[in-house]
Amino acid sequence: MKSIGARLAICYVLASTVTFASLFLAGRYFMERHAIHALDLLNESEFEQLKAGVGPAGKALSQDVLRNRVHAMMSDDLELFYVEVDAPNGDVVFRSQGLRGHQIPVLPKAHVFNAFVDGLGELRAGLFPLGPYKVLIATSKNHVKVVMEGYERTFYGLLLVMIVVSSVIGYGFSRMALRPLRLIQDTADRIRSDNLSERIPVAAAKDEISDLARLLNQMFDRLEISFDQIRRFTAEASHELKTPLTLVRLQAEKLVMEGQLLPVQEQAVQIQIKELAQLNRIIEDLLFLSRADARAITLDLRLQDPEPFLQCFAQDAHVLAEHQQLRFFLTHHGCGQVAIEPKWLRQVLLNLLSNALSASPAGGRITLRSTLMDGTWQVSIEDEGPGVPEEQRGRIFERFVRINRPGEDKGTGLGLAICRSLVELHGGRIFAESAHGGCGLRMVFEIPAETSTDGAVATSQDIPLREADAT
Ligand SMILES: Nc1ncnc2c1ncn2[C@@H]1O[C@H](COP(=O)(O)OP(=O)(O)OP(=O)(O)O)[C@@H](O)[C@H]1O
Ligand SMILES: [Mg+2]
Repeated sequence: MKSIGARLAICYVLASTVTFASLFLAGRYFMERHAIHALDLLNESEFEQLKAGVGPAGKALSQDVLRNRVHAMMSDDLELFYVEVDAPNGDVVFRSQGLRGHQIPVLPKAHVFNAFVDGLGELRAGLFPLGPYKVLIATSKNHVKVVMEGYERTFYGLLLVMIVVSSVIGYGFSRMALRPLRLIQDTADRIRSDNLSERIPVAAAKDEISDLARLLNQMFDRLEISFDQIRRFTAEASHELKTPLTLVRLQAEKLVMEGQLLPVQEQAVQIQIKELAQLNRIIEDLLFLSRADARAITLDLRLQDPEPFLQCFAQDAHVLAEHQQLRFFLTHHGCGQVAIEPKWLRQVLLNLLSNALSASPAGGRITLRSTLMDGTWQVSIEDEGPGVPEEQRGRIFERFVRINRPGEDKGTGLGLAICRSLVELHGGRIFAESAHGGCGLRMVFEIPAETSTDGAVATSQDIPLREADAT
Protein backbone atom coordinates (compact mmCIF):
# COMPACT_ATOMS: atom_id res chain seq x y z
CA MET A 1 0.00 0.00 0.00
CA LYS A 2 1.50 3.30 -1.12
CA SER A 3 -0.25 5.79 1.12
CA ILE A 4 1.20 6.28 4.62
CA GLY A 5 -2.13 7.82 5.63
CA ALA A 6 -4.00 4.61 4.70
CA ARG A 7 -1.38 2.50 6.49
CA LEU A 8 -1.67 4.63 9.63
CA ALA A 9 -5.47 4.38 9.56
CA ILE A 10 -5.32 0.58 9.12
CA CYS A 11 -2.79 0.24 11.97
CA TYR A 12 -5.06 2.32 14.18
CA VAL A 13 -8.09 0.14 13.36
CA LEU A 14 -6.06 -3.04 13.96
CA ALA A 15 -4.68 -1.78 17.28
CA SER A 16 -8.16 -0.75 18.44
CA THR A 17 -9.64 -4.10 17.38
CA VAL A 18 -6.92 -6.13 19.13
CA THR A 19 -7.31 -4.03 22.32
CA PHE A 20 -11.06 -4.40 22.21
CA ALA A 21 -10.87 -8.17 21.59
CA SER A 22 -8.38 -8.62 24.48
CA LEU A 23 -10.67 -6.67 26.78
CA PHE A 24 -13.56 -8.83 25.64
CA LEU A 25 -11.68 -12.07 26.37
CA ALA A 26 -10.56 -10.84 29.81
CA GLY A 27 -14.09 -9.58 30.55
CA ARG A 28 -15.58 -12.88 29.46
CA TYR A 29 -13.20 -14.87 31.67
CA PHE A 30 -13.87 -12.80 34.79
CA MET A 31 -17.60 -12.63 34.18
CA GLU A 32 -17.88 -16.41 33.80
CA ARG A 33 -15.80 -16.98 36.93
CA HIS A 34 -17.97 -14.57 38.84
CA ALA A 35 -21.19 -16.24 37.65
CA ILE A 36 -19.89 -19.72 38.60
CA HIS A 37 -18.82 -18.46 42.01
CA ALA A 38 -22.34 -17.09 42.46
CA LEU A 39 -23.70 -20.61 41.68
CA ASP A 40 -21.35 -22.08 44.31
CA LEU A 41 -22.66 -19.62 46.89
CA LEU A 42 -26.22 -20.46 45.90
CA ASN A 43 -25.57 -24.19 46.33
CA GLU A 44 -23.91 -23.57 49.69
CA SER A 45 -26.73 -21.43 51.00
CA GLU A 46 -29.22 -24.08 49.86
CA PHE A 47 -27.26 -26.69 51.85
CA GLU A 48 -27.21 -24.43 54.91
CA GLN A 49 -31.00 -24.19 54.70
CA LEU A 50 -31.26 -27.95 54.29
CA LYS A 51 -28.96 -28.56 57.22
CA ALA A 52 -30.93 -26.22 59.43
CA GLY A 53 -34.20 -27.91 58.43
CA VAL A 54 -32.97 -31.46 58.85
CA GLY A 55 -31.75 -30.88 62.42
CA PRO A 56 -28.40 -31.11 64.15
CA ALA A 57 -25.87 -33.28 62.39
CA GLY A 58 -28.45 -35.71 61.09
CA LYS A 59 -26.36 -38.37 62.80
CA ALA A 60 -29.09 -39.98 64.74
CA LEU A 61 -31.51 -39.93 61.82
CA SER A 62 -32.36 -43.07 60.01
CA GLN A 63 -32.24 -43.06 56.21
CA ASP A 64 -36.04 -43.00 55.94
CA VAL A 65 -36.48 -40.05 58.28
CA LEU A 66 -33.70 -38.17 56.54
CA ARG A 67 -35.27 -38.89 53.13
CA ASN A 68 -38.63 -37.58 54.32
CA ARG A 69 -37.16 -34.46 55.85
CA VAL A 70 -35.04 -33.68 52.81
CA HIS A 71 -38.02 -34.26 50.58
CA ALA A 72 -40.14 -31.91 52.70
CA MET A 73 -37.43 -29.28 52.74
CA MET A 74 -36.59 -29.41 49.04
CA SER A 75 -40.09 -29.67 47.63
CA ASP A 76 -40.13 -25.91 46.83
CA ASP A 77 -36.64 -25.71 45.35
CA LEU A 78 -36.56 -28.89 43.30
CA GLU A 79 -36.95 -26.99 40.05
CA LEU A 80 -33.83 -24.98 40.66
CA PHE A 81 -31.59 -27.44 42.48
CA TYR A 82 -30.62 -31.05 41.93
CA VAL A 83 -30.08 -32.84 45.26
CA GLU A 84 -28.64 -36.22 46.05
CA VAL A 85 -28.01 -37.60 49.53
CA ASP A 86 -25.74 -40.63 49.80
CA ALA A 87 -25.34 -42.89 52.82
CA PRO A 88 -21.80 -43.83 53.99
CA ASN A 89 -22.25 -47.33 52.50
CA GLY A 90 -22.99 -45.83 49.07
CA ASP A 91 -26.79 -46.21 49.18
CA VAL A 92 -28.70 -43.33 47.66
CA VAL A 93 -30.89 -41.93 50.45
CA PHE A 94 -32.49 -39.21 48.37
CA ARG A 95 -32.28 -38.15 44.72
CA SER A 96 -34.37 -35.31 43.37
CA GLN A 97 -36.75 -36.21 40.54
CA GLY A 98 -35.13 -33.66 38.23
CA LEU A 99 -32.07 -35.92 38.01
CA ARG A 100 -34.27 -38.50 36.26
CA GLY A 101 -32.50 -41.35 38.01
CA HIS A 102 -29.01 -40.16 36.94
CA GLN A 103 -26.21 -39.95 39.42
CA ILE A 104 -24.20 -36.74 39.79
CA PRO A 105 -20.59 -37.78 38.97
CA VAL A 106 -18.37 -36.71 41.88
CA LEU A 107 -14.88 -35.32 41.34
CA PRO A 108 -12.55 -36.88 43.91
CA LYS A 109 -11.30 -34.49 46.59
CA ALA A 110 -13.12 -31.51 45.05
CA HIS A 111 -15.57 -29.54 47.15
CA VAL A 112 -17.08 -27.70 44.18
CA PHE A 113 -16.89 -28.97 40.61
CA ASN A 114 -18.53 -29.14 37.18
CA ALA A 115 -20.44 -32.29 36.39
CA PHE A 116 -22.08 -33.42 33.18
CA VAL A 117 -25.35 -35.31 33.50
CA ASP A 118 -27.03 -36.89 30.46
CA GLY A 119 -30.16 -35.02 29.47
CA LEU A 120 -29.44 -32.13 31.86
CA GLY A 121 -26.21 -30.82 30.45
CA GLU A 122 -23.53 -29.24 32.55
CA LEU A 123 -24.18 -28.68 36.25
CA ARG A 124 -22.29 -26.81 38.92
CA ALA A 125 -22.21 -29.00 41.99
CA GLY A 126 -21.11 -28.74 45.62
CA LEU A 127 -20.36 -31.66 47.95
CA PHE A 128 -21.31 -31.11 51.62
CA PRO A 129 -21.02 -33.44 54.66
CA LEU A 130 -24.14 -33.89 56.78
CA GLY A 131 -23.13 -36.13 59.66
CA PRO A 132 -22.26 -39.48 58.14
CA TYR A 133 -24.13 -38.57 54.92
CA LYS A 134 -22.84 -36.82 51.81
CA VAL A 135 -25.11 -34.19 50.30
CA LEU A 136 -24.65 -33.17 46.65
CA ILE A 137 -26.38 -29.99 45.56
CA ALA A 138 -26.12 -28.92 41.91
CA THR A 139 -27.46 -26.11 39.76
CA SER A 140 -27.70 -26.01 35.98
CA LYS A 141 -25.01 -23.92 34.26
CA ASN A 142 -27.45 -23.14 31.50
CA HIS A 143 -28.17 -19.66 32.86
CA VAL A 144 -24.47 -18.85 32.83
CA LYS A 145 -24.26 -20.10 29.25
CA VAL A 146 -27.20 -17.92 28.19
CA VAL A 147 -25.64 -14.86 29.84
CA MET A 148 -22.28 -15.55 28.18
CA GLU A 149 -23.93 -15.98 24.77
CA GLY A 150 -25.70 -12.64 25.22
CA TYR A 151 -22.37 -11.10 26.16
CA GLU A 152 -20.76 -12.48 22.98
CA ARG A 153 -23.60 -11.21 20.79
CA THR A 154 -23.23 -7.76 22.33
CA PHE A 155 -19.48 -7.98 21.72
CA TYR A 156 -19.86 -8.74 18.01
CA GLY A 157 -22.30 -5.83 17.61
CA LEU A 158 -19.97 -3.50 19.48
CA LEU A 159 -16.98 -4.80 17.49
CA LEU A 160 -18.69 -3.80 14.25
CA VAL A 161 -19.51 -0.35 15.58
CA MET A 162 -15.97 -0.03 16.90
CA ILE A 163 -14.40 -0.91 13.54
CA VAL A 164 -16.52 1.73 11.79
CA VAL A 165 -15.83 4.37 14.45
CA SER A 166 -12.11 3.58 14.67
CA SER A 167 -11.83 3.69 10.84
CA VAL A 168 -13.30 7.19 10.85
CA ILE A 169 -11.09 8.25 13.77
CA GLY A 170 -8.05 6.54 12.17
CA TYR A 171 -8.66 8.33 8.87
CA GLY A 172 -9.07 11.69 10.61
CA PHE A 173 -6.06 11.00 12.79
CA SER A 174 -3.84 10.08 9.82
CA ARG A 175 -4.95 13.17 7.91
CA MET A 176 -4.19 15.32 10.92
CA ALA A 177 -0.81 13.66 11.48
CA LEU A 178 0.18 13.99 7.81
CA ARG A 179 -1.04 17.56 7.35
CA PRO A 180 2.39 19.12 7.95
CA LEU A 181 3.89 16.61 5.48
CA ARG A 182 1.29 17.51 2.86
CA LEU A 183 2.10 21.16 3.38
CA ILE A 184 5.78 20.38 2.82
CA GLN A 185 4.92 18.33 -0.27
CA ASP A 186 2.70 21.07 -1.77
CA THR A 187 5.26 23.79 -1.19
CA ALA A 188 8.19 21.67 -2.41
CA ASP A 189 6.12 20.84 -5.49
CA ARG A 190 5.60 24.54 -6.23
CA ILE A 191 9.27 25.43 -5.85
CA ARG A 192 10.97 25.40 -9.26
CA SER A 193 13.93 27.10 -10.80
CA ASP A 194 11.82 30.20 -11.48
CA ASN A 195 10.31 30.22 -8.01
CA LEU A 196 13.20 29.41 -5.72
CA SER A 197 12.50 32.11 -3.16
CA GLU A 198 9.42 30.35 -1.76
CA ARG A 199 9.93 28.46 1.50
CA ILE A 200 8.09 25.75 3.42
CA PRO A 201 6.24 27.21 6.43
CA VAL A 202 7.86 25.92 9.63
CA ALA A 203 5.65 25.23 12.65
CA ALA A 204 6.60 26.85 15.96
CA ALA A 205 6.70 23.45 17.71
CA LYS A 206 10.10 21.78 17.55
CA ASP A 207 9.41 18.28 16.35
CA GLU A 208 10.71 15.89 13.65
CA ILE A 209 8.54 17.42 10.94
CA SER A 210 9.52 21.02 11.64
CA ASP A 211 13.18 19.83 11.66
CA LEU A 212 12.61 18.28 8.24
CA ALA A 213 10.98 21.51 6.96
CA ARG A 214 13.93 23.51 8.29
CA LEU A 215 16.40 21.16 6.59
CA LEU A 216 14.55 21.40 3.28
CA ASN A 217 14.45 25.18 3.55
CA GLN A 218 18.21 25.22 4.11
CA MET A 219 18.60 23.07 1.02
CA PHE A 220 16.42 25.50 -0.97
CA ASP A 221 18.58 28.38 0.32
CA ARG A 222 21.66 26.68 -1.08
CA LEU A 223 19.89 25.87 -4.33
CA GLU A 224 18.73 29.46 -4.72
CA ILE A 225 22.27 30.74 -4.22
CA SER A 226 23.62 28.26 -6.80
CA PHE A 227 20.90 29.09 -9.30
CA ASP A 228 21.50 32.80 -8.82
CA GLN A 229 25.20 32.31 -9.44
CA ILE A 230 24.50 30.33 -12.62
CA ARG A 231 22.02 32.93 -13.86
CA ARG A 232 24.36 35.77 -13.13
CA PHE A 233 27.18 33.93 -14.83
CA THR A 234 25.04 33.23 -17.91
CA ALA A 235 23.84 36.82 -18.07
CA GLU A 236 27.30 38.28 -17.56
CA ALA A 237 29.04 35.86 -19.90
CA SER A 238 26.43 36.47 -22.64
CA HIS A 239 26.70 40.19 -22.15
CA GLU A 240 30.48 40.17 -22.19
CA LEU A 241 30.56 38.01 -25.30
CA LYS A 242 28.17 40.17 -27.26
CA THR A 243 30.49 43.10 -27.99
CA PRO A 244 33.59 41.12 -29.07
CA LEU A 245 31.40 38.89 -31.23
CA THR A 246 29.80 41.87 -32.92
CA LEU A 247 33.28 43.29 -33.58
CA VAL A 248 34.49 40.00 -35.07
CA ARG A 249 31.40 39.82 -37.29
CA LEU A 250 31.80 43.40 -38.44
CA GLN A 251 35.44 42.76 -39.28
CA ALA A 252 34.52 39.66 -41.26
CA GLU A 253 31.77 41.53 -43.12
CA LYS A 254 34.21 44.35 -43.88
CA LEU A 255 36.66 41.83 -45.35
CA VAL A 256 33.97 40.48 -47.67
CA MET A 257 32.80 43.96 -48.65
CA GLU A 258 36.34 45.02 -49.61
CA GLY A 259 36.27 42.26 -52.21
CA GLN A 260 40.01 41.53 -52.07
CA LEU A 261 39.67 37.94 -50.89
CA LEU A 262 40.30 34.89 -52.97
CA PRO A 263 37.10 32.87 -53.60
CA VAL A 264 38.23 30.18 -51.14
CA GLN A 265 38.97 32.77 -48.47
CA GLU A 266 35.67 34.52 -49.09
CA GLN A 267 33.82 31.25 -48.72
CA ALA A 268 35.57 30.61 -45.39
CA VAL A 269 34.74 34.09 -44.14
CA GLN A 270 31.10 33.67 -45.22
CA ILE A 271 30.92 30.46 -43.12
CA GLN A 272 32.41 32.39 -40.21
CA ILE A 273 29.78 35.11 -40.59
CA LYS A 274 27.02 32.52 -40.63
CA GLU A 275 28.34 30.78 -37.52
CA LEU A 276 28.82 34.13 -35.79
CA ALA A 277 25.21 35.03 -36.52
CA GLN A 278 24.12 31.74 -34.99
CA LEU A 279 26.34 32.37 -31.93
CA ASN A 280 24.91 35.83 -31.61
CA ARG A 281 21.40 34.40 -31.63
CA ILE A 282 22.28 31.92 -28.87
CA ILE A 283 23.68 34.74 -26.78
CA GLU A 284 20.58 36.86 -27.33
CA ASP A 285 18.37 33.92 -26.38
CA LEU A 286 20.39 33.16 -23.25
CA LEU A 287 20.29 36.78 -22.22
CA PHE A 288 16.54 36.82 -22.72
CA LEU A 289 16.05 33.65 -20.65
CA SER A 290 18.29 34.99 -17.85
CA ARG A 291 16.24 38.17 -17.75
CA ALA A 292 12.98 36.20 -17.78
CA ASP A 293 14.29 34.00 -14.92
CA ALA A 294 15.21 37.09 -12.94
CA ARG A 295 11.74 38.50 -13.68
CA ALA A 296 13.40 41.47 -15.29
CA ILE A 297 11.02 41.40 -18.27
CA THR A 298 7.83 43.34 -17.76
CA LEU A 299 5.16 43.04 -20.36
CA ASP A 300 3.04 45.88 -21.59
CA LEU A 301 -0.17 43.84 -21.67
CA ARG A 302 -3.14 45.35 -23.48
CA LEU A 303 -6.59 43.89 -23.89
CA GLN A 304 -7.35 43.35 -27.56
CA ASP A 305 -9.18 41.16 -30.00
CA PRO A 306 -6.53 38.66 -31.15
CA GLU A 307 -8.02 38.13 -34.60
CA PRO A 308 -6.40 41.16 -36.37
CA PHE A 309 -3.08 40.23 -34.76
CA LEU A 310 -3.41 36.68 -36.09
CA GLN A 311 -4.40 37.84 -39.57
CA CYS A 312 -1.31 40.02 -39.67
CA PHE A 313 0.92 37.15 -38.50
CA ALA A 314 -0.71 34.81 -41.00
CA GLN A 315 0.39 36.99 -43.94
CA ASP A 316 4.05 36.57 -42.98
CA ALA A 317 3.52 32.90 -42.14
CA HIS A 318 2.04 32.30 -45.56
CA VAL A 319 5.06 33.84 -47.28
CA LEU A 320 7.46 31.83 -45.17
CA ALA A 321 5.53 28.61 -45.83
CA GLU A 322 5.31 29.26 -49.56
CA HIS A 323 9.05 29.84 -49.65
CA GLN A 324 9.45 26.24 -48.53
CA GLN A 325 6.72 24.85 -50.78
CA LEU A 326 4.39 24.38 -47.81
CA ARG A 327 0.79 25.45 -47.25
CA PHE A 328 -0.38 27.56 -44.30
CA PHE A 329 -3.96 27.79 -42.98
CA LEU A 330 -5.53 29.86 -40.27
CA THR A 331 -8.84 29.36 -38.48
CA HIS A 332 -10.26 31.55 -35.75
CA HIS A 333 -13.35 30.84 -33.65
CA GLY A 334 -15.05 32.88 -30.99
CA CYS A 335 -15.11 36.47 -29.77
CA GLY A 336 -13.42 38.14 -26.90
CA GLN A 337 -10.34 39.98 -25.76
CA VAL A 338 -6.94 38.86 -24.52
CA ALA A 339 -4.30 40.76 -22.56
CA ILE A 340 -1.18 40.32 -24.70
CA GLU A 341 1.88 42.15 -25.86
CA PRO A 342 1.86 41.45 -29.62
CA LYS A 343 5.64 41.80 -29.99
CA TRP A 344 6.34 38.87 -27.65
CA LEU A 345 3.44 36.78 -28.79
CA ARG A 346 4.58 37.16 -32.37
CA GLN A 347 7.95 35.86 -31.22
CA VAL A 348 6.21 32.76 -29.76
CA LEU A 349 4.28 32.15 -32.97
CA LEU A 350 7.38 32.63 -35.11
CA ASN A 351 9.34 30.11 -33.02
CA LEU A 352 6.53 27.57 -33.26
CA LEU A 353 6.11 28.22 -36.98
CA SER A 354 9.84 27.90 -37.59
CA ASN A 355 9.82 24.47 -35.88
CA ALA A 356 6.77 23.40 -37.88
CA LEU A 357 8.38 24.59 -41.13
CA SER A 358 11.55 22.62 -40.51
CA ALA A 359 9.64 19.50 -39.48
CA SER A 360 7.12 19.50 -42.37
CA PRO A 361 7.60 17.29 -45.42
CA ALA A 362 7.54 18.95 -48.86
CA GLY A 363 4.03 20.11 -49.79
CA GLY A 364 2.93 19.63 -46.18
CA ARG A 365 0.27 21.66 -44.50
CA ILE A 366 0.63 23.82 -41.38
CA THR A 367 -2.54 24.86 -39.57
CA LEU A 368 -2.86 27.60 -37.00
CA ARG A 369 -6.09 27.24 -35.04
CA SER A 370 -7.27 29.91 -32.62
CA THR A 371 -10.25 29.53 -30.32
CA LEU A 372 -11.68 31.96 -27.81
CA MET A 373 -13.91 30.05 -25.46
CA ASP A 374 -14.71 29.62 -21.76
CA GLY A 375 -12.30 32.31 -20.58
CA THR A 376 -9.35 30.91 -22.55
CA TRP A 377 -7.65 31.78 -25.78
CA GLN A 378 -6.23 28.59 -27.20
CA VAL A 379 -3.82 28.69 -30.10
CA SER A 380 -2.31 25.67 -31.77
CA ILE A 381 0.11 25.17 -34.62
CA GLU A 382 -0.09 21.78 -36.21
CA ASP A 383 2.18 20.26 -38.81
CA GLU A 384 2.42 17.00 -40.73
CA GLY A 385 6.01 16.26 -39.77
CA PRO A 386 7.34 13.23 -37.89
CA GLY A 387 6.18 14.58 -34.51
CA VAL A 388 7.89 13.94 -31.19
CA PRO A 389 7.55 10.68 -29.20
CA GLU A 390 5.15 11.11 -26.28
CA GLU A 391 7.77 10.53 -23.59
CA GLN A 392 9.94 13.34 -25.04
CA ARG A 393 7.18 15.94 -25.45
CA GLY A 394 7.70 17.49 -21.99
CA ARG A 395 11.47 17.65 -22.44
CA ILE A 396 11.51 19.69 -25.64
CA PHE A 397 10.63 22.80 -23.61
CA GLU A 398 13.88 22.48 -21.64
CA ARG A 399 16.90 24.51 -22.65
CA PHE A 400 19.24 23.05 -25.26
CA VAL A 401 17.10 19.96 -25.74
CA ARG A 402 16.93 18.95 -29.39
CA ILE A 403 15.65 15.76 -30.82
CA ASN A 404 17.52 15.74 -34.06
CA ARG A 405 16.82 13.15 -36.62
CA PRO A 406 19.66 11.78 -38.78
CA GLY A 407 20.92 14.44 -41.12
CA GLU A 408 19.52 17.27 -39.04
CA ASP A 409 21.81 19.51 -37.08
CA LYS A 410 20.02 22.80 -36.95
CA GLY A 411 18.81 24.92 -34.09
CA THR A 412 20.09 25.58 -30.61
CA GLY A 413 17.28 24.02 -28.60
CA LEU A 414 16.33 27.36 -27.01
CA GLY A 415 13.29 28.32 -29.10
CA LEU A 416 10.68 26.39 -27.10
CA ALA A 417 12.25 27.38 -23.76
CA ILE A 418 11.75 30.99 -24.82
CA CYS A 419 8.19 30.25 -25.94
CA ARG A 420 7.42 28.75 -22.53
CA SER A 421 8.87 31.77 -20.70
CA LEU A 422 6.87 34.17 -22.86
CA VAL A 423 3.60 32.26 -22.57
CA GLU A 424 4.03 32.01 -18.79
CA LEU A 425 4.72 35.74 -18.64
CA HIS A 426 1.27 36.10 -20.25
CA GLY A 427 -0.16 33.92 -17.45
CA GLY A 428 -0.67 30.95 -19.76
CA ARG A 429 0.75 27.50 -20.43
CA ILE A 430 2.19 25.69 -23.40
CA PHE A 431 2.32 22.01 -24.25
CA ALA A 432 2.80 19.59 -27.11
CA GLU A 433 0.54 16.81 -28.27
CA SER A 434 0.20 14.63 -31.31
CA ALA A 435 -1.53 16.20 -34.28
CA HIS A 436 -5.18 15.43 -34.92
CA GLY A 437 -4.50 12.98 -37.73
CA GLY A 438 -2.00 11.14 -35.50
CA CYS A 439 0.89 12.22 -37.75
CA GLY A 440 2.80 15.37 -36.87
CA LEU A 441 3.01 17.60 -33.83
CA ARG A 442 0.51 20.03 -32.39
CA MET A 443 1.97 22.78 -30.23
CA VAL A 444 -0.68 24.42 -28.08
CA PHE A 445 -0.62 27.46 -25.84
CA GLU A 446 -3.46 28.80 -23.74
CA ILE A 447 -3.80 32.28 -22.30
CA PRO A 448 -6.60 33.56 -20.03
CA ALA A 449 -9.10 35.65 -21.99
CA GLU A 450 -12.27 37.65 -21.57
CA THR A 451 -14.60 35.75 -23.82
CA SER A 452 -18.10 36.94 -24.62
CA THR A 453 -21.07 34.63 -24.79
CA ASP A 454 -22.01 36.27 -28.14
CA GLY A 455 -18.77 34.83 -29.37
CA ALA A 456 -19.93 31.31 -28.71
CA VAL A 457 -22.90 31.93 -30.98
CA ALA A 458 -20.75 33.67 -33.54
CA THR A 459 -18.39 30.71 -33.80
CA SER A 460 -21.02 28.63 -35.55
CA GLN A 461 -20.83 30.89 -38.59
CA ASP A 462 -17.30 32.03 -38.07
CA ILE A 463 -15.34 28.94 -38.95
CA PRO A 464 -13.66 29.83 -42.19
CA LEU A 465 -10.73 27.59 -42.94
CA ARG A 466 -8.90 29.85 -45.31
CA GLU A 467 -5.46 30.29 -46.62
CA ALA A 468 -3.68 33.20 -44.98
CA ASP A 469 -3.45 35.32 -48.09
CA ALA A 470 -7.24 35.32 -48.35
CA THR A 471 -7.35 37.99 -45.61
N1 LIG B 1 6.96 20.75 -34.92
C1 LIG B 1 7.92 19.93 -34.52
N2 LIG B 1 8.04 18.68 -35.03
C2 LIG B 1 8.99 17.83 -34.63
N3 LIG B 1 9.90 18.13 -33.65
C3 LIG B 1 9.84 19.34 -33.10
C4 LIG B 1 8.85 20.30 -33.48
N4 LIG B 1 9.03 21.41 -32.71
C5 LIG B 1 10.08 21.16 -31.93
N5 LIG B 1 10.57 19.93 -32.13
C6 LIG B 1 11.71 19.29 -31.47
O1 LIG B 1 11.96 20.03 -30.28
C7 LIG B 1 13.32 20.42 -30.22
C8 LIG B 1 13.43 21.75 -29.50
O2 LIG B 1 12.83 22.78 -30.24
P1 LIG B 1 13.35 24.25 -30.06
O3 LIG B 1 12.52 25.14 -30.90
O4 LIG B 1 13.44 24.52 -28.60
O5 LIG B 1 14.83 24.16 -30.57
P2 LIG B 1 15.37 24.14 -32.04
O6 LIG B 1 14.25 24.39 -32.99
O7 LIG B 1 16.16 22.91 -32.20
O8 LIG B 1 16.35 25.38 -32.00
P3 LIG B 1 16.01 26.94 -31.98
O9 LIG B 1 16.57 27.42 -30.71
O10 LIG B 1 16.67 27.46 -33.16
O11 LIG B 1 14.51 27.04 -32.03
C9 LIG B 1 13.74 20.50 -31.66
O12 LIG B 1 15.12 20.28 -31.79
C10 LIG B 1 12.93 19.37 -32.31
O13 LIG B 1 13.65 18.16 -32.13
MG1 LIG C 1 12.97 26.05 -32.79
